[in-house]
This record gives sequence, structure tokens and C-alpha cells, in this order.
Amino acid sequence: MIVAIDGPTASGKGTIAKKVAAHFNLPLLDTGLLYRAVGKTLLDDGGDADNEDDALAACGFDDALLDDDRLRDEDIGSLASRVSVHAAVRKALFERQQNFAYQDGGAVLDGRDIGTMIAPDADVKLFVTASPQVRAQRRHREMIARGRNVSEQQMLDDIKARDERDSGRRAAPLKPAQDAHLLDTTNLAIGDAVQQAIALIQKKLQNQT
Ligand code: DC
Repeated sequence: MIVAIDGPTASGKGTIAKKVAAHFNLPLLDTGLLYRAVGKTLLDDGGDADNEDDALAACGFDDALLDDDRLRDEDIGSLASRVSVHAAVRKALFERQQNFAYQDGGAVLDGRDIGTMIAPDADVKLFVTASPQVRAQRRHREMIARGRNVSEQQMLDDIKARDERDSGRRAAPLKPAQDAHLLDTTNLAIGDAVQQAIALIQKKLQNQT
């Protein structure tokens, strides 16, 4: 079974993907980390995120980088969003994601274009959303817990800029697949959102058999 979980930043999709993968005993790929690794490599190499050649050169990152906690910082998220606009970058990361999705036994992937581009025939597609204000609150809490000194307004500005870039780009823009189930977590505790996601997947599986 392939489960595709897409949505904007801080919508809850990462936590939902983790819990869904654990529940169904499936391997998980957080595809945002790949773009974050490109962003971090580019930063270290002194490249320009808006230059396609520089961004492409940063795609050959070392896999050990994927475990670096620094990838989770907001400035790296923003760089990831900028490098992800380039078609050459998306192409360089495509096969790795698709191979993961179509491995024997199935997989869970979360990102922006899993249901539309990476695994268009996934068994279940979820599109997780929440209002920008609630997402900014969540991201702010997360950053404070990680000892980062940021304001909620800064988070809201970043989130809006990122939404606009991710949804407005030409290459694989952030949008729900036509057959995706929408899950709005604005007024949901994360535990309830996870339960709803699992129930949706279970229902879908029952309908398939
Ligand atoms: O999910 P995230 O916040 O870690 O993603 C960081 C950025 O990477 C996001 O703003 C856009 C890009 N991204 C993408 O374009 N496609 C994906 N499948 C995952 C992430």
C-alpha cells in the first residue's frame, strides 16, 4: 500500500505521516528533508538558491546530512522552498522518491507533490491543511521548544511566503490531487487528526477488498 500525504508547512502532515507509518508498519520518507538537505548544502557551499545551476550542484548531498537537526530550522525550510522551484532539482530528486514509493511492501511519503507527481496512483492520498495562523502558532511553539528565538509574526510571514512560493511555482506546485481526501487540522488536536487519518486509510483499504 502506498500512502501519499501532502500539504503545506506545519499543517500536521509530518506527525500524521509518522503515526500512519508506525500504525500500518510501513517505511516512511519525509521528502521535505531532501529539499532541506539541498538547501543546507547550498548554504554551506555559498551558492545562490535562486540560481538553478547552483541548486542542482547541491543535489549531490551526503545522506548523513539527512539526520542533521539543523535541517529543521526555519531558514533551511525557506531555502528548501526556494531550491524546490527549479525543475532540475525536482528531477534530480525524483527517482529516489519514486523508488521509495514503489518498493515492495509499500510506503508512506509526505511532501507537496506525492499524490500528484511522485506516486499518482497511490492507494490513499491525504491533503492536510490548517489556517496559516494556526500553523504559525504550531511552528512558533516548535521553534521555542528547540531553543530558537523567533516571533510568531515572523513564523506567520515565513509561512505565507512559503505557501505562495510552493503553490505558485510552475514545477509540481503544491495542490491536492483530484482524488485526495482533505483533512483540515485547524481545529483538531494532533491525536484526533492522526485518528481521522488512520480511519480514512482503513476505510479506503476496506473498499478496495
Ligand atoms: O515539508 P518541509 O517544510 O520540510 O518542506 C520544505 C520545502 O521543500 C517546502 O517549502 C517545499 C519543498 N518541498 C517540495 O517542493 N516538494 C516536496 N515533496 C517536499 C518539500
